[in-house]
Amino acid sequence: MRQKIVAGNWKMNTDYDQGLWLVSEVVNMVNDEVLSDVKVIIAPPFTHLFGIKQLIKSAPKVRLAAQNCSSEASGAFTGEISCSMLKSIGVEAVIIGHSERRQLFGETNFSIKKKIKQALQAGLSPIVCCGETWDERNGGIHFQIIQTQLEEALFALNRDEIGKVIIAYEPVWAIGTGQTATPDQAQEIHRFIRNAIQEKYNSSIADSISILYGGSCTSKNAKELFSNPDVDGGLVGGASLKSREFVDIIKSF
Ligand code: 13P
Repeated sequence: MRQKIVAGNWKMNTDYDQGLWLVSEVVNMVNDEVLSDVKVIIAPPFTHLFGIKQLIKSAPKVRLAAQNCSSEASGAFTGEISCSMLKSIGVEAVIIGHSERRQLFGETNFSIKKKIKQALQAGLSPIVCCGETWDERNGGIHFQIIQTQLEEALFALNRDEIGKVIIAYEPVWAIGTGQTATPDQAQEIHRFIRNAIQEKYNSSIADSISILYGGSCTSKNAKELFSNPDVDGGLVGGASLKSREFVDIIKSF
């Protein structure tokens, strides 16, 4: 059985007190209401990570992720945060290659590949994002775009390493737009990603990797999206900032 996961990417939202309050609400609701074996991942801003780590100790289902990491291990890289620093405060996962980082901060498949390596070396689970723009989908090259993202960023990993990766399919046109991919569109791409992993590695690895959907995921559409055979959960942006809404998404399996 693949691990079911719902991850909340807070992006650059909440101040410290608001973040701690939001997590304590989520922790209480998850402890009281969530019976399934879903793993919940919270990815707050860097400044909140240590404080939130203390709060989630009472919530066995809740794990902590960063939203980004350095592609380097240590040294003269002003403003950067390394994977081993994250690991040292109890962070377990890191989102890598989000489309906002690709589009706004110049990240490429090459730099993403370096970050994935750093994460694995430090013992963090990389949550690796891929996805096409609207123009790419309209132009019929969305499969090709995703194949290239996988090949250039991910497929240099060996079998042990790839098994530790979580993949998030986030169509860029669905992020923050309210325009969710249909369950069929999500399933089609998730199947494509799993097939690509099977071809590159093998079917037991492909079957074991969790592939999350991200892009305007809400409590209204999560159930239908998550019911697809290759959709193992969600990477949730805006809806993860409201505790009730986020926990309702978690309960959609
Ligand atoms: P929204 O859920 O706000 O569309 O954001 C998705 C996302 O980018 C998660 O990483």
